[in-house]
Amino acid sequence: MLSPKMEKALNDQVNAEMFSAYLYLAMVAYFQDKNLPGFANWMTVQNQEETFHAMKFFNYISERGGRVTLDAIDKPQFEWASPLDAMEAAHNHEAYISARINDLVNLAIEEKDHASNSFLRWFVDEQVEEEDNVNTVVQKLRLLGKDGGGLFMLDRDLATRVFTPPAA
Ligand SMILES: [Fe+2]
Ligand SMILES: [Fe+2]
Repeated sequence: MLSPKMEKALNDQVNAEMFSAYLYLAMVAYFQDKNLPGFANWMTVQNQEETFHAMKFFNYISERGGRVTLDAIDKPQFEWASPLDAMEAAHNHEAYISARINDLVNLAIEEKDHASNSFLRWFVDEQVEEEDNVNTVVQKLRLLGKDGGGLFMLDRDLATRVFTPPAA
């Protein structure tokens, strides 16, 4: 059984992952509006990943005999100053999520909940990848600066990303 504290924290994380999905969906709309379909595609995949994360927490709570409680999802920001600004916001958001995952691991250890600790390890590794993925795009955008041709090429590159549900 999950402790009430752990159950609450895991439910909060379902909400945080759903918010992530919602934030990236707002970025899909932003990039579509800026005529950057590749960036929009990249963010669509990001949105799908976050929904997958939310469901992973959802199913785990249920598996452990807990009760999933769904909360309201905050309204995300939906306007950014530039593609770089949006990507930097995504990068900051992933760092925030990584900190949340670390807090969850700390709680699992405190609660002597080894099953949750083991479950969360997947997310610890996933966040390293998540931060790196976004950072790669941020770095490329910084290199481009105001080079419109480069932005067009990067957009074409980001159009190729596809969602593959991680084996877990
Ligand atoms: Fe996530
Ligand atoms: Fe993420």
